[in-house]
Amino acid sequence: MSLAAFLLLALRTCGFAAAVNIYVASYSGGSQAGNITTLSLLRNPDESYSLSQTATVNTSTNSPSWLTLSRQNNLLYMVDEAINGTANSKGALVVYRTSYSGKLTEVSRTEALIGGVDATFFANGQALVVPHYTGGNLQSYNIDPKGGVKPIETIYIKSRKSNPGPIVQRQEAPHPHQAILDPTRSFILIPDLGDDEVHVFAIDQETHKLTKKESLQTKLGVGPRHGVFTPDLINGKYVFYLVGELTGDIKAYSVTYKPDNGGISFDEVASYAIVNPGVTYPRKQDGSSHVAPAEIDITADGSTLVLSIRNDTTFGTAPPVDSLVHYSISPVNGTLTQKPLVSAYGSFPRHFAINKAGNLMVVPSQLSGKLVILRKNPKIGVFDEKVASVEFAAGANVPVCAVWDE
Ligand SMILES: *[C@@H]1O[C@H](CO)[C@@H](O)[C@H](O)[C@H]1NC(C)=O
Ligand SMILES: *[C@@H]1O[C@H](CO)[C@@H](O)[C@H](O)[C@H]1NC(C)=O
Ligand SMILES: *[C@@H]1O[C@H](CO)[C@@H](O)[C@H](O)[C@H]1NC(C)=O
Ligand SMILES: *[C@@H]1O[C@H](CO)[C@@H](O)[C@H](O)[C@H]1NC(C)=O
Ligand SMILES: *[C@@H]1O[C@H](CO)[C@@H](O)[C@H](O)[C@H]1NC(C)=O
Repeated sequence: MSLAAFLLLALRTCGFAAAVNIYVASYSGGSQAGNITTLSLLRNPDESYSLSQTATVNTSTNSPSWLTLSRQNNLLYMVDEAINGTANSKGALVVYRTSYSGKLTEVSRTEALIGGVDATFFANGQALVVPHYTGGNLQSYNIDPKGGVKPIETIYIKSRKSNPGPIVQRQEAPHPHQAILDPTRSFILIPDLGDDEVHVFAIDQETHKLTKKESLQTKLGVGPRHGVFTPDLINGKYVFYLVGELTGDIKAYSVTYKPDNGGISFDEVASYAIVNPGVTYPRKQDGSSHVAPAEIDITADGSTLVLSIRNDTTFGTAPPVDSLVHYSISPVNGTLTQKPLVSAYGSFPRHFAINKAGNLMVVPSQLSGKLVILRKNPKIGVFDEKVASVEFAAGANVPVCAVWDE
């Protein structure tokens, strides 16, 4: 190691240098060059921030849809959705080694089915599960600290319905949209937009196989997309919040674990439509919402739930600018209280990520090719102050997922 590299490492390890890497996955917009871009966010002595692009890797895939980081092993897992593929097309799971400089080095590439949209560690970081929206299945893998990947199983979701759901265009088949490890680390939950269910699988911690348990079934036409558990028990129970992409709302469930690892039961306690005074959000002919909530997360202190909204154009129509919604979470019963909408500074914020300290959020906007860093205003508990931003080059304009390396 050179002296300069050693000093840089020492500085970073001691926390003096305030630079952090952020990895951003972008769909290609048609060509075979979906990229991962590394951004470096530097906190200046005067508390302002500088954001610069330090590396780009051509993934040689069409549509990197999701990134999951193992900080411990310096490995970044990328899922290629092969979004416009046909039934015979293949997606991929690609693993990159990260570095301080931001450069990513490919360590393995595994062919996968198409439609992968998320990747979640389980079994103490020894396995990974990828839900596939297109194709309606899950693929799981054993992973090792060197970046190796070995398939475990492919699970096809069987629809609970004999006909398409009420929103025919989106609900013609099961569409698993996310994989969530529950707070006890014993179950994987899969929100399924096509089937109006959240599938529950028990984890075998030895074999890493998944066994289906009774699912959470929503009303038809809800379109479950993403969900999140409270980090702590509230009044003795976790609360699970579920995004209904097609209804455009959030549902809250009180969570009860069945004895002997038998599964989870969910009691719906409340449903929250997004409130924007004076505005009635438009609906499609089939009744589903044009305004489509996407990502949901809770700050690590458990106080605030954040939801990104696509296509509400509250903060501009030409060019379109969509919103983020914040809710305070009641510490005694998990009830949500919505705050006024704030700007996402772009169109279609499909994803966002909160940093470890809980004071910054990165928000990529798919349709405007932009990414912003927002700072939380501690007085009102809302991420509403833009402290840095980048615009991606034309043709490289479809950022869909961002992760902090910290
Ligand atoms: C997928 O197809 C749509 C419609 O033709 C196109 O607009 C989009 O750029 C394509 N996306 C990718 C990642 O190829
Ligand atoms: C990205 O990689 C693909 C496949 O390896 C190649 O065809 C394409 O030209 C590359 N694109 C760029 C912009 O380098
Ligand atoms: C966004 O909503 C408008 C109605 O407000 C609708 O006409 C349009 O198709 C929607 N766009 C997308 C990409 O869903
Ligand atoms: C939940 O708790 C809040 C206080 O944090 C209270 O205002 C609200 O009425 C409670 N709601 C229910 C349904 O008990
Ligand atoms: C990917 O990176 C290459 C090389 O930097 C660039 O030419 C291309 O436009 C980028 N494409 C995307 C989709 O980001």
